[in-house]
Amino acid sequence: MVDVLLGLQWGDEGKGKIVDFFAKNYDLVARFQGGPNAGHTLYVNDKKVVLHQIPSGVFHPVIINLIGNGVVLDPVTLKKECDIVASFGIDLKKNLFISERTHLILPTHRALDKAAEQSKGKEKIGSTLKGIGPTYMDKTGRNGLRVGDLLDKNFTSAYIKLRLKHQKLLDNFNFQEDITAWEEEFFEALEFLKELNIVNGEYFINKHIKDGKRVLAEGAQGSMLDIDFGTFPFVTSSNTISAGVCNGLGVAPQLIRDVYGVTKAYCTRVGGGPFPTELDNEVGEELRKIGSEFGATTGRPRRCGWIDLVALRFACMINGVTKIVMTKADVLDAFKELQVCTDYNINGKIGQEIPFQMEKQKPVPVYKSFPGWNTDTSGVKSFTDLPDTMKTYVSFINEYLGVDVHYISNGPGREQIVKVD
Ligand code: GDP
Ligand code: IMO
Ligand code: MG
Repeated sequence: MVDVLLGLQWGDEGKGKIVDFFAKNYDLVARFQGGPNAGHTLYVNDKKVVLHQIPSGVFHPVIINLIGNGVVLDPVTLKKECDIVASFGIDLKKNLFISERTHLILPTHRALDKAAEQSKGKEKIGSTLKGIGPTYMDKTGRNGLRVGDLLDKNFTSAYIKLRLKHQKLLDNFNFQEDITAWEEEFFEALEFLKELNIVNGEYFINKHIKDGKRVLAEGAQGSMLDIDFGTFPFVTSSNTISAGVCNGLGVAPQLIRDVYGVTKAYCTRVGGGPFPTELDNEVGEELRKIGSEFGATTGRPRRCGWIDLVALRFACMINGVTKIVMTKADVLDAFKELQVCTDYNINGKIGQEIPFQMEKQKPVPVYKSFPGWNTDTSGVKSFTDLPDTMKTYVSFINEYLGVDVHYISNGPGREQIVKVD
């Protein structure tokens, strides 16, 4: 069986921490989409680690970690990350596996990302500039190079051919930057990558499942950044939703059991695009300050706002969420009053659906107000000890979504999480 854990908002819901916490219940953790645009924060022996490419189960030495075919892989980021992980005494030769079908992010993909964003001017997506979009374009355009191609003696000529194609595009964009240094580190990192366990991911994972091993599929980004169902075009380039697990790992839909949806107790977004409950005021500033809301990958300040139940219910529907994990509840400790978005007002019409073009239709959130709990919850270990006001807040969310919150995370630490009784 396969459980899935993914983000229900615009990313950074705290997936890394929760995967790390759940990992002890699994034998294998697999990333199924996205790439180094992800930044998943974990605390290992009180030390902060941000993972971009490696699944968040990696700090449990007995767990196998798989980078699936649906991921796009930057060897340079991977190498740096492997060095950090190895410094914790983790033997990656033993517990990291990479699908041979995983597409490679080339230096020119990163250059193209930058050039494309620059050319968009004010309409830019706010991409992390890690080369994600261009690499997925080369995948669907049937041009890309895959990890398995590295073992082919014609790899270099295939690389040169693709690089030339990219150069023409870069010339069109009038992109002038010298990427020689990027290429040098890329080729160096490829040598490192070749030494890792490159496997046929779909047979690998299905064999584990057949042998009764428990698999956790770890999502990157969030449902509202999904290429099909997110706030297009302000999205990433992969299917971040549960359906992405099937084509990103090669597992059949019947094998999927629980879908854990992770949401913050409020909401954030980094990069451009619509965000109905955004608070462009001192309350938003307060959320950012208390929640340390700065991008784990780019360091950019995250936009902050109240929880959006219209968007969350949509995400639950699209993903088939069976259990919710609510993170960063402690961040709301200091607020006297909380708002929860229950409806969208679009040109005077009140509704509970995500519009086709949020950017143009500009939904105005309708809020229901809740009293805050005004007490420090970060040390609470059991559900009974959580304030009643927080329980009321959570009950309302459960009822609205039709799916229950099963865990409440109350701090960044590994053990700061409360199981809902
Ligand atoms: P991810 O991309 O979904 O893994 O999330 P990020 O790591 O980008 O961002 C989540 C941030 O919130 C990280 O800095 C975490 O350490 C932190 N975090 C996670 N859960 C909690 C929580 O329950 N409370 C607080 N205060 N911080 C949390
Ligand atoms: P994790 O896994 C938050 C956002 C970018 C940008 C848009 C497209 O840490 O939750 P891309 O680099 O994919 O071309 O960027 O998506 N974005 C994220 N926002 N968390 C992430 O990952 C993100 N990955 C991409 O800011 O708006
Ligand atoms: Mg993140």
